[in-house]
Amino acid sequence: MIDVLQLVPLRPEVQKELEARYRIHGKGDFDKVAGIVRGVVTNGHSGPPPEMIDRMPKLEIIASASVGYDGIPVEYARSKGIPVTNTPEVLNDDVADLAIGLIIMTARRLVASDSYVRTGKWPKGGEYPLAQKASRKRVGILGMGRIGKEIAKRAEAMNNIVAYHSRRPVADVPYKHYPDLVELAKNSDFLVVIIPATPQTQKIVSKAVIEALGPTGILVNVARGAVVDEDALVEALKSGKLGGAGLDVFVNEPQVPPELFAMDNVVLQPHVGSATHETRRAMSQLVLDNLDAYFAGKPLLTEIK
Ligand code: 8YV
Repeated sequence: MIDVLQLVPLRPEVQKELEARYRIHGKGDFDKVAGIVRGVVTNGHSGPPPEMIDRMPKLEIIASASVGYDGIPVEYARSKGIPVTNTPEVLNDDVADLAIGLIIMTARRLVASDSYVRTGKWPKGGEYPLAQKASRKRVGILGMGRIGKEIAKRAEAMNNIVAYHSRRPVADVPYKHYPDLVELAKNSDFLVVIIPATPQTQKIVSKAVIEALGPTGILVNVARGAVVDEDALVEALKSGKLGGAGLDVFVNEPQVPPELFAMDNVVLQPHVGSATHETRRAMSQLVLDNLDAYFAGKPLLTEIK
């Protein structure tokens, strides 16, 4: 049997198959098994870091259960001839659904109004304060990749006007491309962030971008916390320079800036973009399928190039 180091669990039904086909070792056994491990199962946040890779001389493949891979040293692994796979496509719907959900929840104040009912304030307080329309607005998307396109489709179905920023215009999309992110923010009611975290995109949603979105604007982040200047975001929300935010990701997860907890114009999620039974199962399956393909000498299904 082939020895595999598993840093994160897969969905139980897929985990069973994995264990039937491979000899699985947990992180706690690393010192014992580093010399014999030929595969690693991980996700985009869990490594293995270069020092660990260096200690696995027989390592041939890293299979990750995430689309983002900012926590895996992909270039380093590749420089040692170790391919890395991820899970693109299968989570597009869920992440796009969440992005639209966050637009609606934030604009329409659904969390705050839900709590108005639950906490018994309605009978005394009367009609709830009016919210903002989520349809027929301008939706700016930062990143027009696979998920960005799904967000755009959903936003269009709500009669929103979609525009986007990416380094270069994307072929075959009908939306206006803004070469300058501040300009896109200025011309958006909602700005949805869906770009990978890389050294180049670190804090790309800067104070200037946030302020350009403005006092009625809403920022939605379903990408990575690191791509937003989180301190500037908190400041802008506090001072009213930004209207609201719907956030699924944070710089230092699971820690969230506590100032956000008291803000009823902010909707917070615990990084659940892909967190449905169906999608997590598909992600797990893709991890196993990539491992199986590799060790059967077949082409990888979703190698990060
Ligand atoms: C999480 C994600 O990684 O795919 C990604 O990039 O951010 C999510 O799907 C999830 O925690 C993976 O287990």
